[in-house]
Amino acid sequence: MSIRTLDDLLAEGVSGRRVLVRADLNVPLDKQTGDITDDGRIRAVLPTLSALVESGAKVVVCSHLGRPKGSPAPQFSLRPVAGRLGELLGAEVRFAEDTVGDSARSTVEGLADGQVALLENLRFNAGETSKDDAERGAFADQLAAFGDVYVDDAFGAVHRKHASVYDVAARLPHFAGRLLLREVEVLSTLTGDPERPYVVVLGGSKVSDKLAVIEALLPKVDRLLIGGGMCFTFLKAQGHEVGSSLLEEDMVETCRNLLERSEDKILLPVDVVAADAFAPDSPHDVVPADGIPSKRVGLDIGPETVAGFAAALKTSATGDPGNARTIFWNGPMGVFEMAAFANGTRGVAEAIAGSEAFSVVGGGDSAAAVRVLGLDEKSFSHISTGGGASLEYLEGKTLPGIAALEN
Ligand code: 3PG
Repeated sequence: MSIRTLDDLLAEGVSGRRVLVRADLNVPLDKQTGDITDDGRIRAVLPTLSALVESGAKVVVCSHLGRPKGSPAPQFSLRPVAGRLGELLGAEVRFAEDTVGDSARSTVEGLADGQVALLENLRFNAGETSKDDAERGAFADQLAAFGDVYVDDAFGAVHRKHASVYDVAARLPHFAGRLLLREVEVLSTLTGDPERPYVVVLGGSKVSDKLAVIEALLPKVDRLLIGGGMCFTFLKAQGHEVGSSLLEEDMVETCRNLLERSEDKILLPVDVVAADAFAPDSPHDVVPADGIPSKRVGLDIGPETVAGFAAALKTSATGDPGNARTIFWNGPMGVFEMAAFANGTRGVAEAIAGSEAFSVVGGGDSAAAVRVLGLDEKSFSHISTGGGASLEYLEGKTLPGIAALEN
């Protein structure tokens, strides 16, 4: 990959220069209190920001948060993120009340060497996500005016052809930040020649969201373990009753076809936790996966499945060739947000954490599950900050944010 990196920029010298950094500070907020519930993405960008601060740059950080529709919406303000970023950096982060307006201009103009500013949510501006090149370009011109150079460290957004991700790079000398480089380095080992056996665990609710990545990964993997809501469409494709569990009728034929082509690689649940209703306190019990009673809804994989998946993931100290040497996990195994249905996700996560394999956790819900379930993040080789971005990378798609840095 012919991309100039943060180290190249630091070698050029950044003291006194304005560095516009695109970060992915799209963190989850508590709906009631507005508090940040998982600051993983803020911590992930610290290496890049600290290096720039220490080198005396004037650091202008920009990001999106949530999906506002092109105009200001207070519940998506980045203000709480500015506070947390300041705490973690150990330095004041000046917050601009808008993205490219008067507040942003005066905040950027007032920066001293080694100081940091955070602009308000990029998506408060229609130009950020516009499909119209000219509209996006006009917004990118305004953003680019705040930097002498541009650093992209927003791996989680590289799959978006947005002004701050794609068009700004064409307007300023551009460099990849530390996080973005690490993500690409790790994920490229999974698409290249991973150490075998290579085991992928996929969960989450929809097969349709994961179909492209399943197609791309199947030829490369030794085992594909499937849990989460998406397993029911596979179970149906095998001819089993799934009760009221999540089902994508229009994907049953596709799943049947995938199973016919690769049944030897795909491992499905043998038991599931079935409940009367989708509710945290609903009565529930473990039932065989090949006969979920009608009107009952599968909300987690069962204990026998967890044991089978753990066995497929385990790496012995002697490096038993039957065990995984490379693991990629994306998507929870059940409704882990409800304690009664978290055991499947916890069991699989613990099996991965306890493995000696090179283990990569895809972003989004699986990264959140690691933290919410209180697992030690250091037990995994890498926890990606990209949900959609890491899947699209593994699908082999050209990602606009990376392509822009290569130009
Ligand atoms: C993510 O959460 O995956 C990234 O921040 C991208 O967000 P988006 O899906 O709203 O573009």
